[in-house]
Amino acid sequence: MERIPIFAANWKMNKTIKESAEFFKEFIYNISGIVDREIVIAPAFTCLQEIKAMLQKENSNISLCAQNMHFKDAGAFTGEISPVMLQEIGVKRVIIGHSERRHIFGEDNNFIALKVISAFNYGILPILCVGEKLEEREGNKTFKVIDEQLSKGLSEVKEDFLKDLVIAYEPVWAIGTGKTATPLQAQEVHEYIRNWFEKKYNLSLAKIVRILYGGSVTHDNIKFLMDCPDVDGVLVGGASLKNDLFTKIIKYDII
Ligand code: 13P
Repeated sequence: MERIPIFAANWKMNKTIKESAEFFKEFIYNISGIVDREIVIAPAFTCLQEIKAMLQKENSNISLCAQNMHFKDAGAFTGEISPVMLQEIGVKRVIIGHSERRHIFGEDNNFIALKVISAFNYGILPILCVGEKLEEREGNKTFKVIDEQLSKGLSEVKEDFLKDLVIAYEPVWAIGTGKTATPLQAQEVHEYIRNWFEKKYNLSLAKIVRILYGGSVTHDNIKFLMDCPDVDGVLVGGASLKNDLFTKIIKYDII
């Protein structure tokens, strides 16, 4: 089965409702007619509803994505957003375990695992982020870290759900640093992840699971990354905030 490439924008804590509406006005036009790849946008929580309405009005097939969620459906969790709330808006995907959540906000693999199960249970498809820190790479611990993030992060997930799972490999040292992994470095880890799914589950699942690369992706390096056989798309931070730059990334082989 062919793996449809994904071009995902993680806007992090950027763009107000007004700014995202401005982005979309032009962006929807720029990417109209593209049907052979999935375009995903993860704006701030405050913008989700407005953007959903805009996408519906324009009949756009862009996938709306949340940047995070709590695993409980409701309760005394000040400042959190539940899967039920995301479901109500009609969010298709959710980013879980982003390195900024792990390393700034202290989320560990066990907490992340609960979110992955919860997302699937509520029909929101998770993009599970994994990736090593610089000192872990330099200490030859990259595969050990990835193995642990996958083993623990997916520990309780029913196998039936996994065909809809997306993994994002985001080496922490490449995020927002302008230091992209070389295609060789990216391919090596992506291949490790695909083999991990084959060993742990089976070959047909390994062939289906989409693995995105994230970390200083730009229109200058996208082609080299997409040429890697196990890179099925990208999760873009900084360069996704500008309409023309993100469009160039999405259309890297068209224009
Ligand atoms: P940058 O593209 O800004 O490096 O961010 C990557 C990222 O964290 C996407 O989730």
